[in-house]
Amino acid sequence: MVSMNKAWGGRFKAGQSRRFLEYGASVGFDHKLASFDVFQNKAHAKGLLKAGVLTPPEFKKIQKGLDSIQKEIALGKFRFTVEDEDVHMNIERRLKEKIGAVAGKLHTGRSRNDQVATDVRLYARDASARIAELVRGMRRTLVSRAEKQVDCFMPGYTHLQQAQPIRAAHWFLAYQEMFRRDEARFDLAGKSADASPLGSGALAGNNFGVDRNFTAKLMGFSSVTQNSMDAVSDRDFAMEFCFAVSVLFVHLSRLAEELVIYSSSEFGSASLPDEYCTGSSIMPQKKNPDLLELFRGKAGRAAGNLVNLLVMLKGLPLAYNKDMQEDKIPLFDSAEQALGALPLADDLMRSVKFNGRLLEKRLRDGYLTAVDLADYLVLKGTPFREAHHVVGGVVRECEERGVPLAALGLRDLKRHSALFGRGALACLDPLLSPDRKRGVGSTARGEILRQIKRLKAELSRK
Ligand code: ARG
Repeated sequence: MVSMNKAWGGRFKAGQSRRFLEYGASVGFDHKLASFDVFQNKAHAKGLLKAGVLTPPEFKKIQKGLDSIQKEIALGKFRFTVEDEDVHMNIERRLKEKIGAVAGKLHTGRSRNDQVATDVRLYARDASARIAELVRGMRRTLVSRAEKQVDCFMPGYTHLQQAQPIRAAHWFLAYQEMFRRDEARFDLAGKSADASPLGSGALAGNNFGVDRNFTAKLMGFSSVTQNSMDAVSDRDFAMEFCFAVSVLFVHLSRLAEELVIYSSSEFGSASLPDEYCTGSSIMPQKKNPDLLELFRGKAGRAAGNLVNLLVMLKGLPLAYNKDMQEDKIPLFDSAEQALGALPLADDLMRSVKFNGRLLEKRLRDGYLTAVDLADYLVLKGTPFREAHHVVGGVVRECEERGVPLAALGLRDLKRHSALFGRGALACLDPLLSPDRKRGVGSTARGEILRQIKRLKAELSRK
């Protein structure tokens, strides 16, 4: 047994079990909300002053106390204790140590339910903005890599089988598109968090007429929540945030997987910067793509965080339930994982090298222009299905003879269709294939340059 809890012990005869106290305390993780909590406390104190709950001298005392607590937090000097259960009560306890009993007035018209909902929203809003900015940086890097790689060619794959020749820039811009959507998702997650629950009280509202719009404005929220019960139990914004992080990691892991494959000895088409690889303690030749493997692995962790929240919230009755204390663990972890991964991914993408010569050789050694050859016949009037069949026969012959498509001469082609003429040989050149593509979003040089220009303008705006 421990001594009576000061914040809520009034109605109890016996103190809380020590083991339960330690089990139930959230300060071990919610201390990360400390600065947001002080920020909120300051806004709430102003609201209480405006509502006439605090006198100006009391308000001043509280503000000063909170300022000095914020300094302790910033310097890492604030001492959190499990006896105070969570970050909110730790800060209140400290405020009392500093300014005495008047500290007890700060919690007027507020519950920890609207308090924690407000802090968590502040956290999610801040994290969304920081991650969106990093994602934007990543997009800039990919666009600038695309710009440098416009005239580098590589095989594009489907089913990881060589499909058609593309410009490497197209590959970089494909990932840019994924991160463009990620950025939008983090903007949305930030907007979801952008409403103030403060003043909702435990679940029914507050008795003091605290001006909710006023405190919301002080905290930079653009609106207030519209139903006090929903306000204290809504964690949609946290789920949306964790969803955005999950998708981000799906993208990072796809990128990672491709580079793991490309940098393998068997592929050899990309080489990774030494800084982001590790060696083996037994095999001296090894250069392992650990960072990429971590991105890939952490995709599972990010998805797990989302599932954690979804399952924790499902079936909860209105309004607050202690289950919800668990929301912070996945939320913080997802934020930290995204914030940790992005600068590394950005840096790695800046310096990953593509082996242009080998990629070109691969293009010449394969059958990647088979579609171009079929399309040649189509232009001569052959229905595509028939052209496809004819070129299938050409590829089969190449395979049997052990030669690439580009090695065929006009006479070889003519044996498959009389419609093949001089121009067909140009269709076999893999480096001419990309620019034959037309329309928005293709790998043709002109289209890629247009995309790069558009993206550069977009990315320089913010
Ligand atoms: N530490 C709690 C949490 O994070 C704060 C809210 C506590 N509210 C309550 N009614 N016990 O959820």
